[in-house]
Amino acid sequence: MAPLCFNQNAARTAQQLVVFVTRKDLWRSRAKANLDMIRQMYPEKPKDQQSRRERVIKAYYSKLIPNVYFDLFGLYGWLKYIMVLITGLFRPIYREVRAKDMRVVVHKTCGLAAQNFMISMAAIGYDTCPMEGSDTWRVKRLLDLPRGAEINMIVSWGIRKPEGVYGERFRIPFDEIYRRMGQ
Ligand SMILES: Cc1cc2nc3c(=O)[nH]c(=O)nc-3n(C[C@H](O)[C@H](O)[C@H](O)COP(=O)(O)O)c2cc1C
Repeated sequence: MAPLCFNQNAARTAQQLVVFVTRKDLWRSRAKANLDMIRQMYPEKPKDQQSRRERVIKAYYSKLIPNVYFDLFGLYGWLKYIMVLITGLFRPIYREVRAKDMRVVVHKTCGLAAQNFMISMAAIGYDTCPMEGSDTWRVKRLLDLPRGAEINMIVSWGIRKPEGVYGERFRIPFDEIYRRMGQ
């Protein structure tokens, strides 16, 4: 794995490398798993006896998620996008409906999981380094991942070695990145 991370220090000196992988291709089974759980929470009853909460949450996984994730060679995605543009003229609307938008969404979600992992590791005394720098195609082949899987990032972890650390931390000044609105 280290050569596939270009032998950078953080990879070469690490005891472990954890590869974070997005699985947009599994959306059907993930939506079904959520729906199965929700159906256990709310046993079947006629629509007019269901609470608003129950109807909304069931529609979310049975209608909204399939509609957002489904595409047909990008064509349905563009159709959805045009409809969103028109509707969006009149009211606030969710705009991430094309396949490329969903890629951003799953990578964002996976980034949160990676961050949780790094914070948890720090809490029990380990060091981590998130790495964007890798040959993702070769990593996929090495790990025998399916076509629909994408490498989000590789996180090295263990106890830091002095030669594995680049140097002092750099921080963009807080005032440059934070803007308080109102008042
Ligand atoms: C998008 C992204 C890509 C990164 N890629 C690498 C990388 O390839 N190799 C590496 O050593 N660190 C990489 N880093 C990690 C940074 O070097 C740095 O450790 C991190 O952003 C902030 O760490 P700090 O909070 O300890 O300053 C990356 C960080 C980000 C946000």
